[in-house]
Amino acid sequence: MELEGRTALVTGASRGIGRAIAVYLAELGAQVAVNYSSSEQRAIEVVEAIKEKGGRAIAVKADVSNLQEVEAMFEKVLNEFGDLHILVNNAGITRDALLIRMKQEDWDAVLDTNLKGVYNCSKAAAKIMIKKRRGKIINISSVVGVAGNAGQSNYAAAKAGVIGFSKAIARELAPRNIQVNVVAPGFIETDMTAALPESIRQEMLKQIPLGRYGDPMDVAYVVGFLASDKSQYITGQVIHVDGGMIM
Ligand SMILES: NC(=O)c1ccc[n+]([C@@H]2O[C@H](COP(=O)([O-])OP(=O)(O)OC[C@H]3O[C@@H](n4cnc5c(N)ncnc54)[C@H](OP(=O)(O)O)[C@@H]3O)[C@@H](O)[C@H]2O)c1
Repeated sequence: MELEGRTALVTGASRGIGRAIAVYLAELGAQVAVNYSSSEQRAIEVVEAIKEKGGRAIAVKADVSNLQEVEAMFEKVLNEFGDLHILVNNAGITRDALLIRMKQEDWDAVLDTNLKGVYNCSKAAAKIMIKKRRGKIINISSVVGVAGNAGQSNYAAAKAGVIGFSKAIARELAPRNIQVNVVAPGFIETDMTAALPESIRQEMLKQIPLGRYGDPMDVAYVVGFLASDKSQYITGQVIHVDGGMIM
């Protein structure tokens, strides 16, 4: 199996895209730390699903925006698995509003989770990976970080920030044989998009050349490739998984 002997930490893996990534990386042979912030029962279910298929996994609670909790999470992963080869920064939230109605706390919450969380976890992972001179960091951005979207200025700023941040650390970490890449999903069927009104869902569908919403596995397959040795010569890239929304 391609990821046999590797350890992966997937943030926000209790649901949606993160869950699909965690289960798929385990199918490829990795031991997986399933991070969550509040959905403990759902994280435990992900761990059980991995174990049922013969894999190894643990659930780790941490709010990625909180440095102390992130440091404790990495310590727990190292204590349990002894190493870390793959970090997938997937945890994310939305707090949508038009700019003139956007509350400061909605701006801060989205930037703290979606951007500062990526910085916190990447820094902790890089410290481990640099010593071993190998590693994979995969950050989940969004088409919204590339094209913008009315009502999501906080989310767009954070997701665009993730792209710039990833390119900067891809350059910093390349000499240590650590690859950093970004996956930018389009409209993927999860709790996050289920919350949108049907009129907006239909409007989005019209903008997808492939004519369907994405499935979390569409994202997981790309992350599996970026986590594997098959992508050793790819770094600092943004891979769109969006049915052709951005070309
Ligand atoms: N769905 C889409 O169409 C789409 C498109 C583009 C990009 N994305 C991005 O893909 C990622 C996953 O999205 P999704 O649709 O799967 O979202 P989701 O179904 O809402 O799941 C979000 C996950 O993030 C976790 N999370 C939220 N805040 C956290 C925090 N502070 N610390 C740790 N974990 C936290 C949640 O954990 P708890 O359950 O414990 O709160 C949950 O596991 C996000 O970064 C999102 O922005 C999604």
